[in-house]
Amino acid sequence: MGKRVLLIQGHPDQAPGHLCRSLEEAYARGVREGGHALRRIDVGALDFPLLRSQHDWEHGALPAGLQQAQDDILWSQHIVFFFPLWLGDMPAILKGFLEQVARPGFAFSAEGKNPFARKGLKGRSGRLVVTMGMPAIVYRVYFRAHSVKSLRRNVLGFVGIAPVGDTLIGMTGNLKPRVAARWLDRMQALGRGAV
Ligand SMILES: Cc1cc2nc3c(=O)[nH]c(=O)nc-3n(C[C@H](O)[C@H](O)[C@H](O)COP(=O)(O)O)c2cc1C
Repeated sequence: MGKRVLLIQGHPDQAPGHLCRSLEEAYARGVREGGHALRRIDVGALDFPLLRSQHDWEHGALPAGLQQAQDDILWSQHIVFFFPLWLGDMPAILKGFLEQVARPGFAFSAEGKNPFARKGLKGRSGRLVVTMGMPAIVYRVYFRAHSVKSLRRNVLGFVGIAPVGDTLIGMTGNLKPRVAARWLDRMQALGRGAV
């Protein structure tokens, strides 16, 4: 049985030629080959403001441009995020998207006195595909992959998305075509297995 796979592209730049987009394309090819169902969100193409207050988060309406995104997240069984490391973390536009989308009542809900007790997105697995200028080993060992850990534990784990695998691709500034092709093959294989 195929899985319902959602790809979330977090690269803010719509211009072609970014590695993050080629990686997403390769993963999508694999998903189709594997007979899985596919939906995609291009965060940089969505129109939404930054969240400004807890009151708005709890009581305000979701921006109209994000309703489909919430529907897609609910539909999915496996979610893959693609983003470049910017200042050590996900680009601000992706963080802004997550703040808007992961609202109480959707991403989690209250039980008794604990407002976060019920994880709203349980039963979904995930993967983080992150590109970076530094060698990936430096990010893993010296920086302890802090932003990937934070996203996995503080955000995705918090709302019930687990397990979450990762693929970290470094030295993107001078990636040899042969190396890039290997990464695309790897993405396609991951997509085929929807993992
Ligand atoms: C605003 C900005 C901040 C960046 N910060 C980092 C960083 O903190 N660490 C790093 O290794 N690379 C950093 N980079 C390099 C990007 O990670 C790299 O350009 C990207 O992964 C290449 O993938 P793409 O072709 O999909 O854009 C930064 C790039 C930009 C534009």
